[in-house]
This record gives sequence, C-alpha cells and structure tokens, in this order.
Amino acid sequence: MAGRLAGKIAIITGASTGIGAATARLFVAEGAKVLAADIKEPGAELAALLAQHSDAMRFAILDIRSEPAWAAGLTACLKAFGPPNVLVNNAGALGSGKPVHEESTDAMLAAFESNVLGMFLGMKTVIPGMIEGGGGAIVNVSSVWGWSGVANNVAYQTSKGAAVMLSKNAGVTYAPYNIRVNCLLPGYVDTPMSRGVTPDEAQMLIKFTPLGRRAEPHEIAPMIAFLASDEASFVAAGNYMVDGGMAAL
Ligand SMILES: NC(=O)c1ccc[n+]([C@@H]2O[C@H](COP(=O)([O-])OP(=O)(O)OC[C@H]3O[C@@H](n4cnc5c(N)ncnc54)[C@H](O)[C@@H]3O)[C@@H](O)[C@H]2O)c1
Repeated sequence: MAGRLAGKIAIITGASTGIGAATARLFVAEGAKVLAADIKEPGAELAALLAQHSDAMRFAILDIRSEPAWAAGLTACLKAFGPPNVLVNNAGALGSGKPVHEESTDAMLAAFESNVLGMFLGMKTVIPGMIEGGGGAIVNVSSVWGWSGVANNVAYQTSKGAAVMLSKNAGVTYAPYNIRVNCLLPGYVDTPMSRGVTPDEAQMLIKFTPLGRRAEPHEIAPMIAFLASDEASFVAAGNYMVDGGMAAL
C-alpha cells in the first residue's frame, strides 16, 4: 500500500536530531523522498535512517540563515529527487532566556536570524518552484511560546511569535497558488534543545502542561506529516498546537 506521503519530495531542516529527525523518519516510512538538512552532522537516529534508506533520503549541511546555502540545498534536492513539493522549516534556536532590559541587541538579532529569517529564506527558495509545479505544502515550526506569553525569554518568544505571523502572511498569500502554509506550535518536547533547561524550569514546564509530562519527538511528527499530506487539502494558513494542552491555560 502506498504511504500517505507517496509522491512527496520534502526538504526538512533541523533534521539531525529531535523533532526534525523524528519527522524525517515518519516521512520516509510514509513514502516521501527526503532531503534532511542541518547546520550540524546527523545524530545517531538520522545517521541510521540515512544508511537504511539511501534510495529515499539524502543529507545536506545547510545553514538556514544563508541564502546561498538555501540555493545549494535546493540544487541538492533537485539532483537527488526533483523539485520539492514539501518544505518543513523546523530548524530553530533557543534564546538566552533573558528579559528585555537584560537582553543584548546581538542575541535579539541572532534569534530573529535563526527563527524568522531562516524560515523566510526557506520559503523564498522553494515557493517559485511550487508555483511552477502547481502547488505544495509548507510546515513552519514555531512554538507555543510564540503564542502564549511567558516571563523572560524575550528573544525566543518574540522571534517565534514573528514566525507565526510570517506563516499566516505566506499562508494567505500563496493559498491561491495551491500552496498550503501552516504553522505548528509544539509544547515541551524532550530534545537536545529542551535538555538545556534547568530542573526548576523543567518542573515549571510540566506544571503548565495539562497532560502532566513532556512529549517525545515522535508525538510531534504526525501533525507535521498530516499538514504535509494531501489529507490536509483544505488546511491552509492555520496554527496547530501539539502542546499537551499548554496553550489552553
Ligand atoms: N523541544 C521543545 O521543547 C520545543 C518546543 C517548541 C518548539 N520547538 C521548536 O522545534 C524545532 C526543533 O527543535 P528540537 O526541539 O527538535 O531541538 P533540536 O536541538 O533537536 O533540533 C534543532 C535543530 O536545528 C538545527 N539548527 C539550529 N540552527 C540552525 C541553522 N542556522 N541552520 C540549520 N539548522 C539549524 C540544530 O542543529 C538542531 O539539529 C525548533 O524550531 C524549536 O524551536 C521545540
């Protein structure tokens, strides 16, 4: 039986570990061809997947903050599989956790480069080909912290909030071209990024998650796969929490 993502050619950023690696795993299992991209080399899970699925997966080093790097990534995808009809803008970076009056201008700019500019450049790179090909699906990974207010964390929170509006803007702009741009907002997920929080912060995050625990990356990937699939054919310019209920508080 053909998978739910048969015929899809996807670029997934931030794929070396965490949510990106889990998403790459599910995409390949569902029949997609995947260019897994990251600024760092594949972690163990992705390396094993690449070895196992050499026909359906390739890896490229790609710094999402660089337009030439995106051009090279697109070329790699075209060469390996053809024009991408799916983009998962998953790569992102945590800020320093500081409040406005303590945050540096450099750290603010760095967060916007990683969490907004990278997403913008990814869409800018693939959308012309999607228009030419008659459509596509883009999933932008923001965060529940780009939606609900939390104290401190000004760089991460405001950049992830901008990612929500960037997704809405592109969603509305490109829906007439049959390009569905949607935004995914995860809650607390056990990944290398979130393992940087202190035990007190971890307790606080779990306290503010009605399900009472953090997620595993494989619990986030199915929503990304759904939004990328043809099953989501009427789902455009929307925001989808996968947060254990956190945003409802
Ligand atoms: N883990 C959580 O609790 C959580 C919650 C909400 C949102 N998110 C978001 O989910 C996404 C995936 O993060 P994760 O939790 O899987 O963490 P992760 O650290 O496992 O993955 C993030 C990946 O992005 C890559 N990356 C960072 N900067 C990059 C750049 N400039 N170019 C290319 N790749 C780059 C990293 O190398 C890493 O592999 C991020 O956008 C993150 O903000 C995570």
